[in-house]
Amino acid sequence: MFKIKQALSRGFLKDLVKSTAAGIESRDCFYDQLHYINRHFIEEHKPLLAGIVAQAIAPLHPGIIADELVIVNDFVAPVNLEDAQIHTAHRNNKYGWHVDGIDRSIGPCYNLWIPLYRNGALKDTDFQSLIDVLGRRENPKLYLENGDPRAYALIDPLSLSAPAATICEYLGISSEYALRQNLLLHCLSGKLELHPRAHLNPTTVIKPQIGDVFVFSSSQYHASGPSSLARIAISIKFLVREPRHGFRVLSAVPQVHLAGWVGVFLGSYYQFGDFSSYRKYLSPLIALEQGTLAKNQAKLNCVHSELMAIQKEI
Ligand SMILES: [Fe+2]
Repeated sequence: MFKIKQALSRGFLKDLVKSTAAGIESRDCFYDQLHYINRHFIEEHKPLLAGIVAQAIAPLHPGIIADELVIVNDFVAPVNLEDAQIHTAHRNNKYGWHVDGIDRSIGPCYNLWIPLYRNGALKDTDFQSLIDVLGRRENPKLYLENGDPRAYALIDPLSLSAPAATICEYLGISSEYALRQNLLLHCLSGKLELHPRAHLNPTTVIKPQIGDVFVFSSSQYHASGPSSLARIAISIKFLVREPRHGFRVLSAVPQVHLAGWVGVFLGSYYQFGDFSSYRKYLSPLIALEQGTLAKNQAKLNCVHSELMAIQKEI
């Protein structure tokens, strides 16, 4: 994970928050994680944002420039807000260990992670991490030799709906206590494996300043850190488009076109051979999200009011 201190000015952050709030007001986004809410703003500011990412990842891709990165998506990640369970697949308001979906098909991708929070929400005692990344070098057992992740997620076995005793029996584990010490890897090979929690070696983000940004490979496992700080991150994903910098297609399995943003992004690439055609399908697809967005207005309001409070302080 790369940290770039004070990469973004207060003025830029204020405009980013305003753009996000306006997108919530007009419900101009996908429901899950408010994908593409800042697509116009980010397109406008692509040279700055892609430039930050290119500079950060240059040690991994020598000579890379901003123009060799394309925008994949942007999204909003509220964590520890009272009523912002923003992802329909998540039961809580934190992210568990995962690698990102798009990286299963195409890559390499990098997330530009921009943390935002109210100063008032930060407690003096809060020295815990906001986001954790399990780097390849620091966690070699979680990755294949070529650097790809061995699984798509590290699962807390106690979060599964099957009774703990059944899982213990299935995995040949003597007790629920022993199970609790481990995470489950559902490996790409199909096997289930245990990985001791104590062996995780995360890179952490503790008390970032407003304006600091972080860049990490989205095919490295990442999760919300244990901090209880109420925060909202704006995340923007970039794809390295040039084969000479490592671009590759991992899976040629055709995705269903026009089904969710991942399907549209990948489908457009497979169909038209570019990374821009998908953009024309976003607005019609966002029209289909309106029912879900309307049903979850309380959550939108919760994120909006937190953004307004953050904006006042910036
Ligand atoms: Fe992610």
